[in-house]
Amino acid sequence: MMEVLKLLSGLLLVSFLPPGLSEVVEQFSENNCVQFFLNGTTPNIPSILVDGKVNQNHYKLICQKYNNTYRFATLYDTTNRIPVFSAYKFTGTDGGKRPNQNWMIEPQLNGKENTSMKESGTVDEYNNQAGNKDYLNNIERMSRGHLFPNGHASDNDTRKSTFTLTNVVPQAESFNSGSWNTMETRVKNIMEQSCKDKYNKTEAYVVTGAVPSHNNTLNNRVNIPSLMWSAYCCKNPLSDTWISGAHWGANKNHSNTTSLPLADLNNKLSKIYDDKNVLLFSEECLATAAASIVG
Ligand SMILES: *[C@@H]1O[C@H](CO)[C@@H](O)[C@H](O)[C@H]1NC(C)=O
Ligand SMILES: *[C@@H]1O[C@H](CO)[C@@H](O)[C@H](O)[C@H]1NC(C)=O
Ligand SMILES: *[C@@H]1O[C@H](CO)[C@@H](O)[C@H](O)[C@H]1NC(C)=O
Ligand SMILES: *[C@@H]1O[C@H](CO)[C@@H](O)[C@H](O)[C@H]1NC(C)=O
Ligand SMILES: *[C@@H]1O[C@H](CO)[C@@H](O)[C@H](O)[C@H]1NC(C)=O
Ligand SMILES: *[C@@H]1O[C@H](CO)[C@@H](O)[C@H](O)[C@H]1NC(C)=O
Ligand SMILES: *[C@@H]1O[C@H](CO)[C@@H](O)[C@H](O)[C@H]1NC(C)=O
Ligand SMILES: *[C@@H]1O[C@H](CO)[C@@H](O)[C@H](O)[C@H]1NC(C)=O
Repeated sequence: MMEVLKLLSGLLLVSFLPPGLSEVVEQFSENNCVQFFLNGTTPNIPSILVDGKVNQNHYKLICQKYNNTYRFATLYDTTNRIPVFSAYKFTGTDGGKRPNQNWMIEPQLNGKENTSMKESGTVDEYNNQAGNKDYLNNIERMSRGHLFPNGHASDNDTRKSTFTLTNVVPQAESFNSGSWNTMETRVKNIMEQSCKDKYNKTEAYVVTGAVPSHNNTLNNRVNIPSLMWSAYCCKNPLSDTWISGAHWGANKNHSNTTSLPLADLNNKLSKIYDDKNVLLFSEECLATAAASIVG
């Protein structure tokens, strides 16, 4: 989604404090955050997240809460000031539009005890996270690219909750509004058609992340990731099997987004993350990457 114009209009709005309450947790299993992971199993990313635990000096687990309800989960890298991934359960959407929501930050990442998600200032620089200021006037035209896109959210409040800067990375604007956006829509259609729970209700699990670059930053503070990736897994009622799909794209202008089997994305990320076993979803999801579904 394109965020630049959005920001300009946002600056004109009277500031208000939304009823958001995110929580930084030790483990995703606290505070009902496991509900956003298939079978309650968090991804395994050796050296970052193992058995749902992280090195708290460098990474924080955020159970994203908005208007008194937990909405999704984010693993945040406080050194690079971008998320490693956001994870959510897709249950279809009510067809609502992108909300008029100003960008927010997570006070807890800067040691504030108050758990309320609050609006980002426009001149503030936050120690352990990105703020609006980091994204203003950047000559590279880096937009605020959602990991959990508001277009995959089920209702108004969940759409609003995606507008926290802990859920976005600097994403080349033409990539964000181009092939990545097309992929998000296509995956949404696939999940709506092919992913159902036992009551025939739409249900799928998605994990979307970014790989930090070695030397590229926005405002000398926020890592501009080198690539972005996304994977989903769900039960398909017709075949009565788990199906999955995955995508990735280099974070460049006019970049293409490539579709690949989940197993291949696991392998690709394993090579990037120290040649160790990255597992985004449990083994069941690797079994059936139905050719017609990988889209
Ligand atoms: C918060 O949630 C309540 C109950 O769902 C709803 O009535 C209210 O409009 C929401 N408030 C905001 C600001 O979104
Ligand atoms: C925390 O933030 C909320 C919303 O901004 C505010 O209403 C509340 O008074 C704050 N609590 C403390 C202890 O600062
Ligand atoms: C992307 O393209 C825009 C417009 O052509 C240009 O201003 C910007 O520098 C480019 N950004 C990157 C990262 O190449
Ligand atoms: C969601 O927000 C839109 C725009 O503000 C509003 O028209 C709509 O009634 C809201 N939907 C619900 C279910 O509250
Ligand atoms: C599931 O719901 C769809 C419509 O959403 C309907 O066409 C289909 O027949 C339903 N399947 C079962 C097994 O109820
Ligand atoms: C980062 O390093 C790569 C490879 O060494 C180089 O091609 C690229 O130009 C560098 N980018 C920046 C912004 O310094
Ligand atoms: C994306 O794919 C198209 C068609 O294959 C190709 O022409 C274009 O160069 C690719 N874009 C980039 C940035 O690699
Ligand atoms: C979910 O967990 C149960 C119990 O640990 C296991 O038997 C089952 O295979 C898992 N299912 C998936 C899809 O991972």
